[in-house]
Amino acid sequence: MDKKFSIVIAGGGSTFTPGIVLMLLENLDKFPIRQIKFYDNLASRQKVIADACEIILKEKAPEIKFVATTDPETAFSDVDFVMAHIRVGLYAMREKDEKIPLKYGVIGQETCGPGGIAYGMRSIGGVLELIDYMEKYSPDAWMLNYSNPAAIVAEATRKLRPQAKIINICDMPVGIEERMAHAIGLKSRKEMEVRYYGLNHFGWWTGIYDHAGNDLMPQIKEHVAQYGYSLKEELEDKSSQHTDPSWMHTFAKAREVYAVDPTTLPNTYLKYYLYSQDEVEHADPNYTRANEVMDGREKHVFGECEKIVAKQTAAETSLEVDEHASYIVDLARAIAYNTHERMLLIVENNGALSNFEPTAMVEVPCIVGKNGPEPLVQGPIPRFQKGLMEQQVAVEKLVVEAWEEHSYQKLWQALTLSKIIPNARVAKQILDDLIEANKEFWPELS
Ligand code: NAD
Ligand code: G6P
Ligand code: MN
Repeated sequence: MDKKFSIVIAGGGSTFTPGIVLMLLENLDKFPIRQIKFYDNLASRQKVIADACEIILKEKAPEIKFVATTDPETAFSDVDFVMAHIRVGLYAMREKDEKIPLKYGVIGQETCGPGGIAYGMRSIGGVLELIDYMEKYSPDAWMLNYSNPAAIVAEATRKLRPQAKIINICDMPVGIEERMAHAIGLKSRKEMEVRYYGLNHFGWWTGIYDHAGNDLMPQIKEHVAQYGYSLKEELEDKSSQHTDPSWMHTFAKAREVYAVDPTTLPNTYLKYYLYSQDEVEHADPNYTRANEVMDGREKHVFGECEKIVAKQTAAETSLEVDEHASYIVDLARAIAYNTHERMLLIVENNGALSNFEPTAMVEVPCIVGKNGPEPLVQGPIPRFQKGLMEQQVAVEKLVVEAWEEHSYQKLWQALTLSKIIPNARVAKQILDDLIEANKEFWPELS
């Protein structure tokens, strides 16, 4: 453990950046760092976060060199890891992704259905650009990407940058597993080993064991059948974003998602596909999750950063370590130290799901080491999940093809195929509105 690492956080101005920096500082004994750089394409937004983080670093780990920049060469030179969480179009565009479909009675969501497709069309170019910078300035580095919509981004990088050293990861299974562990009286999800398969934000647990190999599924199912992923006592990690009322609704709704297939345990995001209409009825078309986040997390994080700068100390800040983001350190460590940790990652199927499209980007447990992830075979998947996944993976592939070929037709097909959209006419109306709203960000379609 002699080597100290240099990392760049791409999307330095993200609301998650301070929590992740605090988390990295808390884990320096496990993952030593010599340099942290921030990179963003919006200097003014990044500056607020960077000025505060510079003070945090000075107080907690003055030996770590800190750089915040909008210059790709400065950002991407001399780094071992790129931790990427960009949001192309910011919350202003997320708000449109959520509100435009609702005008047509269709749920709008950050990563699912038409909202996710619109966001995907913006993200692909942004993430490819980060890969190109990394390959140019630090060709040996790895990118740990959690920029959304991860499913579409992962398919785009598989297809358009097949050699890239990028690993796509999502924190939702981590968050749900934390809740499962808590529900049955374990201290942490690390006491569990899981079998899981699906696409990103579209998957199921098929087995959960303790380290002695005992089956924990029956106990967890008993809880989920009654409460979904709601807990009698909420988790203490208030720094996690999964604490707002809309998330509490999502965790409770998992009970109904579970009922559709009680042989597995579902990812929370399946509610958008299996209960789309309920979500529309529950939504306020004038105040969506983007509004909740702008009024909540964004105000809080930026407000706290401004206070740190004004006081020139972080001694009294209410910014907290994002403990649940420590999965990012686990992943970086797995690569850096060849730990062979078992983690859920988004990787090319290639036989892991034996009866499913080999080129699909699937979310499955992998053993992670120095040379990247090795997926673990999860066997053939049952007809219900296979049917849903075939449809959804086709949507994701069509979006990437539409982006690459600038094809209106393929994007219309993608929207029409999405389980969330009722028919081709509504798909076209939503598409035409999304094109208008995304002029600045999407390739011109014809
Ligand atoms: P945010 O808007 O606060 O931060 C995103 C930052 O990215 C902004 O500062 C923005 O200026 C910057 N940015 C946008 N386009 C860029 C580009 N092309 N190059 C460089 N920087 C760019 O958003 P947030 O809510 O903090 O979320 C950040 C990202 O992390 C989102 O994509 C979100 O969906 C994702 N996320 C993913 C997971 C997961 O499970 N995979 C979990 C949490 C958040
Ligand atoms: C979960 C998902 C992420 C998503 C986030 C949204 O963590 O795994 O992919 O970005 O929730 O959270 P938000 O608080 O921004 O709605
Ligand atoms: Mn996710």
